[in-house]
Amino acid sequence: MPAGRPFTITTPIFYPSDVPHIGHGYTEVAADVLARWHRQAGDDTWLLTGTDEHGQKMLRTATANDMGPREWADRLVQQAWLPLLETLDIANDDFIRTTQPRHEQGVAAFVQRLYDTGFIEAGDYEGYYCVGCEEYKQTAELVAGTGKYEGQLVCAIHSIPVELLSERNYFFRMSQFTDRLLALYEERPDFVQPESARNEVVSFVKQGLADLSISRSSFDWGVQVPWDERHVVYVWFDALLNYITAIGFDGDEATLNRRWPAVHLVGKDILRFHAVIWPAMLMAAGLEVPRQVFAHGWLLVGGEKMSKSKLTGIAPASITDVFGSDAFRYYFLRAIPFGQDGSFSWEDLAARYQAELANGFGNLASRVIAMIGRYRGGVVPAAGDPSERDLGIREVVRTAAIEADLAIERMAPHEAIASIWRIVEELNGYLTLEEPWALAKRPEEAARLDAVLATAAEGLRALAVLLSPVLPKACAKLWTALGAGGALGLLADQPLRSAGDWAQLPAGTATAPLEPLFPRIEQEVLSA
Ligand code: ME8
Ligand code: MG
Repeated sequence: MPAGRPFTITTPIFYPSDVPHIGHGYTEVAADVLARWHRQAGDDTWLLTGTDEHGQKMLRTATANDMGPREWADRLVQQAWLPLLETLDIANDDFIRTTQPRHEQGVAAFVQRLYDTGFIEAGDYEGYYCVGCEEYKQTAELVAGTGKYEGQLVCAIHSIPVELLSERNYFFRMSQFTDRLLALYEERPDFVQPESARNEVVSFVKQGLADLSISRSSFDWGVQVPWDERHVVYVWFDALLNYITAIGFDGDEATLNRRWPAVHLVGKDILRFHAVIWPAMLMAAGLEVPRQVFAHGWLLVGGEKMSKSKLTGIAPASITDVFGSDAFRYYFLRAIPFGQDGSFSWEDLAARYQAELANGFGNLASRVIAMIGRYRGGVVPAAGDPSERDLGIREVVRTAAIEADLAIERMAPHEAIASIWRIVEELNGYLTLEEPWALAKRPEEAARLDAVLATAAEGLRALAVLLSPVLPKACAKLWTALGAGGALGLLADQPLRSAGDWAQLPAGTATAPLEPLFPRIEQEVLSA
């Protein structure tokens, strides 16, 4: 297959100060579904994820655990963050850690370039710092503490006290980029999405940007500032650069040209870093800005953002151990309109698992494979002349495939899944109306039974391809049961943008038995 359109997508690099929860899992899964979609469509796809290992939050957590920050990060990455990718079936192409030499060298080269060109200068700063956010805060972003923090100012996101810091350090002259950024948002309305995020960023930048303190001298856990060994680079300035140090900056120009610019998927908590600071940094360095910054919403617990610091995190494996990774992937992308907040609930997950995955898609697949086995000896029959209803199914499949691709293009995976699900619903309705089990009892209806089974099998063929980015495990099983590999090749090689074209699975294909794709979950497990 010739390399198609480039598509690079990134997740944030997460702090491995603690173990991941389903909020981190949500971002990983969303990025993976979008990446798998593009990869299956033949686009030259690259999914980048990783960990953000410098800064005070990491240093303090490690110290509190009697370990050095590097050892602490190594342990968490090995024991929790890499396993997360296995747990959720993430097909990432790279995993960057900010402590890797490729990254540290790139950061040093980048800050040196900005220093040499006058975009970094020494200066003084005093302000309130939130270690949870690793960010200086404006007074408007702080609230009065309660309980043990009574009488102190706390961060509105983390509810922990901020610290008054006063430093002489290096500043990135971000104030110079206010107008260029506003022009960017104006010229490219898709640059920041969804619309609510875009509006927030535009009104923030319209107030005018201040210069940004980008070095620290009170601790040394970071990338050393190349011209001043007393300073390390501010953790966010360091972290944002992962998006280019992982793909060839500084030195491998061919790779950088091929993979950059990227789509950045982030939670809305870190929107400004990505939509304001990061493009300004790139502009200063004479590099292209990202293709898009998309901020998804928060998973909420009791109306608040699920978080490590508030101990409200749910472990991803506690969901996948019961329902499997496919169900995790499906549930979060289907149930939450992408870009909005959503509340996780076990009841809702269990209900959708049963109704949509087990009874909807799973049961459709089982019934069709079983009937081909029982009535046609496990061989897909020829479709013959299509009836009106058969033609109707073809049309549903064709339009669902087109609509799903358009939905992915506008970063609406929930709508893509809803479009594909029309095929599941229509095929189930088709079987109810055609009653193949009744046709099988009447020898004179043999041709009609052939047509119904062939239509259903072809519909399943399309579903296996279209759903494979979301439900990779179930679709691989279905592909095998359909016997599609023999005639059509690997599922991974099926071009997604032609998945809606009819009559791909040939008559005569030998099917194989299919275990339930989404087995019944014992009630005790759910109420335990
Ligand atoms: O901010 N709902 O790392 P982090 C949805 N290292 N998504 C959530 C979530 C929730 N309740 N909680 C976390 C950092 N996330 C920096 C990023 S990037 C150059 C540096 C997800 O470990 C979401 O993607 O605090 C959010 O933006 C990210 O985790 C924050 O992860
Ligand atoms: Mg955070």
